Amino acid sequence: MGAGIAEVLARGGLAVVGVEINEDALERGRGHLKRSTGRAVQRGRLTEEGQRDILGRVTFATGFEGLAECDLVIEAVPERLDLKHTVFAELDRVCRDDAVLATNTSSLSVTEIAAGTGRPTSVVGVHFFNPAPVMKLVEVIATVRTEPDAVSRVAELVTSLGKTPVTIGDRAGFVANRLLFGYLNHAATMLDSGHATRDDIDAAMRTGAGLPMGPFTLMDLIGLDTCVQVLDAIYAESRDRRYAAAPVLRELVTAGLLGRKSGRGFYSYDPAETPAAA
Ligand code: 3HC
Repeated sequence: MGAGIAEVLARGGLAVVGVEINEDALERGRGHLKRSTGRAVQRGRLTEEGQRDILGRVTFATGFEGLAECDLVIEAVPERLDLKHTVFAELDRVCRDDAVLATNTSSLSVTEIAAGTGRPTSVVGVHFFNPAPVMKLVEVIATVRTEPDAVSRVAELVTSLGKTPVTIGDRAGFVANRLLFGYLNHAATMLDSGHATRDDIDAAMRTGAGLPMGPFTLMDLIGLDTCVQVLDAIYAESRDRRYAAAPVLRELVTAGLLGRKSGRGFYSYDPAETPAAA
């Protein structure tokens, strides 16, 4: 998500500093950005000069110091509260006093992340959807402490990037995931109970409900570990059984089959393998 978000900001004409944990991760981020913009060039959506401009706007670093002059920082590290707190402590140390500190979390409480900083009034949630360069929605999450000015600055920026901001309070799943994951989990439960096959459920929703992807293809795109994290967070807050993650989801995550990013989830993405049914 970090590389996708960096691409959105750079496409919007902004100078971006991409911070990663080490050189390997930086290389992956750089590669992602090159491939994604390269695909746009191939499809005639972007000129080669436009691609060079976008890539030229993004500088990469492995330390936090490069963020000292940024107006807005968007954190997109893995979904662990201890890790978020470590990152936000660093942001608190290096960022300008008037910087907005945002988290792209999809399953943790923005309020809890903000409470770990010395400046909770500057912390907002900025939730992009996968793939970030394509999906129009950005949820802007305000906690009970967030300054209205920080929220409106972020919402204005999102609009200027050609995206649609929806501003909401800090509740697990926000709006889109709260609705989407009830549906995705229901599909996984149907598969678990033998109601229908993966391919038939996907085909039904693609061709019958007009969705761009069936639920299993979408869960593989999102990442099955992320799906379980989102479901667990919504279930913990709501105690609504619709969000109790289907056993097949946990089973695949335990087996390390996380979807596209690991090469296999409900489907296999290894061209040498026959498509695998979960
Ligand atoms: N990065 C950048 N651009 C991408 C991309 C990627 N990973 N994948 C596709 N694209 C672009 C293509 O370049 C193409 O652009 P163009 O129209 O300018 O040429 C456009 O998207 C369409 O791509 P394709 O023709 O290759 O494929 P599709 O038409 O099948 O579209 C899709 C792919 C956009 C992923 C579409 O299937 C879709 O919208 N799927 C649903 C995605 C969705 O629901 N996302 C939300 C997930 S929930 C979430 O993220 C929240 C989190 O908290 C869990």
